[in-house]
Order: sequence, then structure tokens, then C-alpha cells
Amino acid sequence: MEHQFWQEKWQANEIGFHQDAPHPLLQKHFPTLAPAKGGRVFVPLCGKSGDMMCLQQQGFDVIGLELSEIAAQAFFEENHLQVTVSDAGDYKRFQSAHIEIICGDFFAVTRELLGDISAVFDRAALVALPPEMRVQYVGQMRHLLEPGVEGLLIVLEYEQDIISPPPFAVFQEEVNSLYGHWCDIKLLEKAASDVKGKPCVELACRFRVL
Ligand SMILES: C[S@@+](CC[C@H](N)C(=O)[O-])C[C@H]1O[C@@H](n2cnc3c(N)ncnc32)[C@H](O)[C@@H]1O
Repeated sequence: MEHQFWQEKWQANEIGFHQDAPHPLLQKHFPTLAPAKGGRVFVPLCGKSGDMMCLQQQGFDVIGLELSEIAAQAFFEENHLQVTVSDAGDYKRFQSAHIEIICGDFFAVTRELLGDISAVFDRAALVALPPEMRVQYVGQMRHLLEPGVEGLLIVLEYEQDIISPPPFAVFQEEVNSLYGHWCDIKLLEKAASDVKGKPCVELACRFRVL
């Protein structure tokens, strides 16, 4: 998906993927991961997701990464958080006490810009991307994460042609092939759900970088 596709979605407020309420699988499974409270949780392709507030309320600092400045601004406004905005090279940094969003391209971001990452939460990030970009996405993730970092990944299994993506269907076999050679992966739950009104199965997977 090109940048323009997502920028236009945000400009037109066509953000059917957005949920104010935290994802139930985040609430259920993130507390079973290892990161110490006070650690920094990376939320790639974060949008203005309510999941970030939930992580902060669980005692973590949050570092989100998002292309759209509309999304970042809306997140801080809608959650009534005081924010300072500064330039960081090609990126813009939106910073509040415990939640930060870096605005710019995930695929070019550096470890230095993100700082320490203790854990990852991926909902609607991997599945937002077409197959060839998913390989690049996981390659960049591997580059950004230190051994021992744990993540919670949520993907959707459904017959790809029943809806027009995104989100894309990502089956457990693909998760294993993308993450299995550099992470320990565990399937935590398969839950019945729906995607654009059609039935699907949501998978919650834990990964730990080897
Ligand atoms: C399907 S939305 C999911 C947002 C969020 N995770 C949520 O659950 O609401 C995908 C998000 O990825 C962002 N995005 C797409 N490509 C990106 C890129 N190359 N770098 C950073 N963000 C990107 C889009 O702007 C969009 O907000």
C-alpha cells in the first residue's frame, strides 16, 4: 500500500479499522508477556488506536509509529493529553508524558530514533500490508528489535476473496514462516470474529526474539 493510500484515508476520515476501545485480545494476553512495567511498548502503524491508552494504563510507556500526522494529532486531542511536537529529521515526534508517536515511514525508521523497545503490540499493522510488503515489514521489525523482546501479534484468517483488503488475510502458516526463523512463536488463542461484516478467525500470537 502506498503512502498516498493511507494519507487519503485519514484525510477523508475513512478509518473503519479504528477502535476507541482496547482490543479484547490485548487486554487478555498482553499481561502474560514478560516486559517489566515501565518498559516501552512499540506500536507499529499505530493510527490513533485506543490500544495505546490501554497499554499506558497497564503501566507501560508507549512508542507509536504512524505515517499520518492527522492520526497523531487526533490521538492526543481525543485523549486530552498535553503534547509537544518537534522535528526529528524526516520524522515528527509527538510527545506526552508516557506516550510518544513518531510520524513518518516505518520502513525507514532507525533504532536510534525509536529508542529502547521492551515489547511490541501489532494489531492491524502486519495485516494492513499486501504480501510482498509483509516480508519487508518483518525484515524491518527484525532489524529494530533486540533479542529477548516479546510481542503480541494479532492477525486475521479468512478467505481472501470475501472482502476487499485491507485488512489482508494472514494465516498461521504465514506467521510461522515470517517470524519462525528469528523468533520463538506461540499461538495463544484463536477467536471467532468478523471482518467488514464477514466471519473470520482472529489469532493472537506471542513472539520472542531469539
Ligand atoms: C489498518 S490501520 C491500523 C491502525 C492501528 N494499528 C489500529 O489498530 O487502529 C494501518 C495504519 O498504518 C499506517 N501506515 C501505513 N503505512 C505506513 C508506513 N509505511 N509507515 C507508518 N505508518 C503506516 C496508516 O496510516 C494506518 O494508520
